[in-house]
Amino acid sequence: QPHFAYRGNELFCEEIRLSDLVRAHGTPLFVYSKSAMLAALAAYQRGFAGRNVQICYAMKANPALGVIQVFAEAGCGFDIVSGGDMDRVLAAGGRAEKIIFSGVGKTRAEMRRALRAGIGCFNVESEAELEVLSEVALSMGVAAPVSIRVNPNVDPKTHPYISTGLKDSKFGVAHERVLPTYQRAVKLAGVRVVGIDCHIGSQITQEGPYLDAVDRMLDLVEAIEAAGIPLHHIDFGGGLGIDYHGETPPDAGLLWQKLLARLDARGFGQRHLMIEPGRSLVGNAGVCLSEVLYLKPGEQKNFCIIDAAMNDLPRPAMYQAFHQIVPLNRRPGAPDTYDVVGPICESGDWIGHDRSLAVQPGDLLAVLSAGAYCMSMASNYNSRGRAAEILVDGAQAYVIRQRETIADQMQGESLVGQMPTTLF
Ligand code: LLP
Repeated sequence: QPHFAYRGNELFCEEIRLSDLVRAHGTPLFVYSKSAMLAALAAYQRGFAGRNVQICYAMKANPALGVIQVFAEAGCGFDIVSGGDMDRVLAAGGRAEKIIFSGVGKTRAEMRRALRAGIGCFNVESEAELEVLSEVALSMGVAAPVSIRVNPNVDPKTHPYISTGLKDSKFGVAHERVLPTYQRAVKLAGVRVVGIDCHIGSQITQEGPYLDAVDRMLDLVEAIEAAGIPLHHIDFGGGLGIDYHGETPPDAGLLWQKLLARLDARGFGQRHLMIEPGRSLVGNAGVCLSEVLYLKPGEQKNFCIIDAAMNDLPRPAMYQAFHQIVPLNRRPGAPDTYDVVGPICESGDWIGHDRSLAVQPGDLLAVLSAGAYCMSMASNYNSRGRAAEILVDGAQAYVIRQRETIADQMQGESLVGQMPTTLF
């Protein structure tokens, strides 16, 4: 994470000393580097230079308004998966026509709102959804722009929970049903075919599966167009992995060169192209800062108990994910081996196993690579308020989300007897 570096023994984000942020805002605290986000985006822009491409930030990775704003101002579109996502994009200054709407369970209400807002494309994930979308659009007197999400049946070689393009996955339309689905789509008055898309999974570190999926999708593009159905855009989904701990994901620039070579070879190189990256734009642009509460030596294990927990950083508990943990102020002294754990009442509440750290209670730690799928999956488990978020831009830091208070958490709740409901 080059935008997070030590100066002497102190960890900085861009020009800001991280311990200064903790003094002002407490812990747990997420800190994001704007230039790290823009540098990650630039890698995609370079890879697609000279092409007609729309990069749609998959905002599920980090939906903070301040983060969306950075990508909106940089000209990005957005991949959303709910009506709430759409409201966030619009509130942060994103443009509706650059929104694509993915997800297997869009409700009628969400479809109506997205149609009213005028989003760019619905990435339709089933034949049943296509019928409902057409019906909803017709009832509003419009035709919904659609792309069918192809399930290419390739193994992305990533964690099973984040694989999405295998036959037994709930996502997308099975390869052999794609052409019939397009043939049905062109008969429906409430939809207008504009593209095709696919997504095989997340944290992909090998280029093979990615390119295989592209080939399988291009086969379909040829078949669909041979059947007389023109496709305006081709969307390759997201999924490029990042380096959490020595992983070597394909370099975005090189991968896109290979992808574009395949497109050119088949005459699709000048099409309107789309991609939906999430993790690779924000993952290594963020850290989560936390304070060491207690050290608890044991016969089998030493525990380092910190004030961030699985509600703030769910990835280790959910996917056995590895995040590096480093001190904000490096101190001299021999390190010990610790399991770094949070205060939550679950054995699954760990952030790192067997980490070598020279720490004392009161020390500050940074959990690295915490920009994607951490705050976006945070919860209030154990009545813990969600952390504050800071965005650093050079020597200036901005609070982009205040720490959630217990009043925020209890808002909307009432005691029994206070709110009898009326049934109609
Ligand atoms: N497009 C679609 C349709 C997706 O489902 C996803 C991610 C993306 C794009 C963005 O993929 P990315 O570039 O971020 O890999 N919570 C998990 C990751 C879940 C990913 C879900 N879909 C984790 O923490 O690893």
